[in-house]
Formats: sequence, C-alpha cells, structure tokens
Amino acid sequence: MRDYDSRDNVMMFGGMPVTKIADEFGTPVYVTDEKRLRENYRKVYGAFAKHMDTKVHYACKANSNLAILKILESEGSGIDAVSIGEVMTCMKAGFTPDRIMYTGVNVSNEELKAVTDLGVMINIDSVSELERLAKIRRSLPVSFRITTGVGSGHSDKVVTGAKGVKFGIPLRDAIGTYLRAKELGFDPKGIHVHIGSGGQSVEPFMEATEILIQLTNQLKDRGTDLEFIDIGGGIGVPYRPNEPEMDVDELGRNITEIILEETDVRKIILEPGRYIVCDTTVLLTRCVDVKDADGKKYVGVDAGFNTLVRPAMYGSYHHVAIGNKFGKACTAKYDVAGPICETGDHLARDRVLPNPEEGDIVVVYDAGAYGFSMSSNYNSRPLCREVLVNEGKAELIRDSERIEEQWRHQRIPERLIR
Ligand code: LLP
Repeated sequence: MRDYDSRDNVMMFGGMPVTKIADEFGTPVYVTDEKRLRENYRKVYGAFAKHMDTKVHYACKANSNLAILKILESEGSGIDAVSIGEVMTCMKAGFTPDRIMYTGVNVSNEELKAVTDLGVMINIDSVSELERLAKIRRSLPVSFRITTGVGSGHSDKVVTGAKGVKFGIPLRDAIGTYLRAKELGFDPKGIHVHIGSGGQSVEPFMEATEILIQLTNQLKDRGTDLEFIDIGGGIGVPYRPNEPEMDVDELGRNITEIILEETDVRKIILEPGRYIVCDTTVLLTRCVDVKDADGKKYVGVDAGFNTLVRPAMYGSYHHVAIGNKFGKACTAKYDVAGPICETGDHLARDRVLPNPEEGDIVVVYDAGAYGFSMSSNYNSRPLCREVLVNEGKAELIRDSERIEEQWRHQRIPERLIR
C-alpha cells in the first residue's frame, strides 16, 4: 500500500488535495495518477527487459479507460485482450493489431472470426477452439494456453491455472494439440500460462514456467521451435498497510534465468494487469450518512458495490481513509457501506476512523485494477466519472452517465403502451 502526503490534514493525490478533486468533479469518482502509472509500467518492463527481449502485454480487463490505454500505448506496452470489445477499445486508443494478443475462454466462432479478421494473434484455449478456428482461417501464427496445474490467486474465484479449471489445454493434451495445429496448417509461435490473479509469491510463477520450459523442449525435439514463452499475469500487490510487496526484480531475474539457461527461446511475454494500474487510482466517495445501529457504527457513502464490487464479490480488503481528516486521531470502528439495497454492500469493515461526519471524503485505496471495469448499473445508478491527475492538474477522462442513457437500448413493446 502506498503512503500519501497531506497538507493541513487533507490528503494529497497526484499533487492535488483530494477535497479539491471531489468538489470539482463530484463523487463517486475514480482518480488516476499518471506519473505512478508510467512508473509501474517501466518498473515491471525493466525487471524483465534487462535480461531478455521482453514484451509487456497489459491485461486491459483491469482498467480499459481510453486515456489510461493511451498512456500505456505511449510507453510501448502491448495488450492482453479477452474480448472483441477489448480489442476494438485498444485499437481506438492507438494500439495496432500486432501489439495485441487475444486470450479468450469459451470463444464463439463469431468472435474468432472478428479477432482474426483484424489480424490479432490468438492464444488458443481448447482443442474445440483450434478445430473451429481451422474452419475459419488457417496458416495463422498462434499460441496455446496450457493448464499446468499450478494455480495461485487472492481468492478461489481467480485461480486459473489449477487442474480441472475451465481455462486452457490440459497438460497431458498439450503436445498433441501443437502437433494437430501444425497438421491443420497453423504456425505455432508461442506457449502461454496464466496461474491466476493477485497471488503474492514468486514460486508458482517459477513452477509454471518450468512446465512450459519442458513442453517447449519436447516440442523442439519434435521439430517445432517456439519464439516466445508467455507467463501471463497475476503479480500481486499489497492492499494492506505494511504488507510486503512482491519483488518484481527477483521475479524477472529468476524467470528469465531459467528460460535462457534451459531453452533456445529468447523472447518473454508477460501480461500484468493489477500490477500496472492498481495503486495508480483511488476512489473518492462522500460520506452522506452516519449511523449507530444498536452499537454497530456505519459510515454511509455514495459508492456501493455498483461502483467497486471487489469487497462484496471476493471479500477483498481495500484500505480507506478520510481524506479531509488525514492523520487525525481515530475515534472508533466503523463499517463503510454504500447505497445499494443489500446487506452485503460494504466497501470496508471494522475500520478505525477519525470521527466521520456527513460531507467527509472517504478515500478508497488501490482501486485502479478491476474497479471501474467491474462497475455496474445495479439499482439503476449511473456509472461514475474518471479523472486523471498529473503534476497538480486534473482532467476528466470519463464523464458520468446520465440516467436516461440506461434506457437507450430498451424497448417497450407497442402493445404495452396505452
Ligand atoms: N492474463 C490473463 C489470461 C488473465 O486472465 C488475467 C486476469 C491477466 C492476464 C491479468 O492478471 P493480473 O495481472 O491483473 O492479476 N476481477 C479480479 C481479477 C480477475 C483476473 C482475471 N484474469 C479481481 O478484482 O481481483
């Protein structure tokens, strides 16, 4: 978790008082620090690139705002996309198709056609997908997502590499699938794994990479030379105070070392999402109500799980602070709850806070990954604004929805209108 400065007990973010941002743009609002975004990209890229040819394919499911994509585009990033929507959004932000790799699961024929029509390379997820793709288009460069049996993640819901999950080609079928791909006329270029999301240790990355290395060498013996190994995403970040951070330099050094020593492959791809965007962004939400419910104290705010679903969905911890009472003595324990009509609508539980009052600005930390991108219109609430701050200046990068826009695609059958 990052530490922040304050001025006169007001938290500063990207060189601006959070209260000023909230007053200018309203709440709830996601606020992203451009400088930190560029730093995170450079750090993870540098950790690998100093050892071997490296491509970072930012997993844009974490945050697909066009301005954020544009910044990463300017840094030289590539993209990991999971849908035709993500592919097109990234192209809108300036990414050419050769910088995008598509790794979908349960992919329809329509989507396979649309993605390959655009010239985007596919990481094939199943034998069914391979056979269906062959009927649409052959002689394409491809890669395969292998389920190595090594999984990791902050919650069972996001462990993707374990045996029996819905993702990827089971290990025992891997070699046969590459041979079949060649028979069908494809040109296998790489091998891919994604262990899961938000794990905190280097070990599962090493274990999964070792398995890819063995497969790569077995394929070489059978006449297939791969150009790249893609180790997926999943680098965890610390959400709690004093939580240790995964050492990306160590990760880069250890992974590239075994690839360089044990294979002839000279290019690595990685697909971090969370690592690049998580701590670039805070969610500002205003305290609208304070309640003592038979001894249980609540800070009622204007962002609920429609705005940030991670605490309700995964039980995730996000640190919270009162932005206009930063560093003041805490008075009691509170739950921070939103406006959604469900008891599980919590952003935080049992947090000691400094005398929360109506009008205060509650800052939710580490909201840049899977924050806005998982927000919804539940309870018919409009999607909120996004703001970019850089060197003390703030710019709107997404306006809030108007309520009317939620009706845009709906139709009332004529016979129901009187
Ligand atoms: N590559 C693939 C194939 C993926 O499926 C994912 C994430 C990533 C890369 C990026 O993983 P990251 O570096 O961000 O951990 N909504 C959940 C996380 C779901 C991740 C899904 N796949 C959350 O809020 O924690």
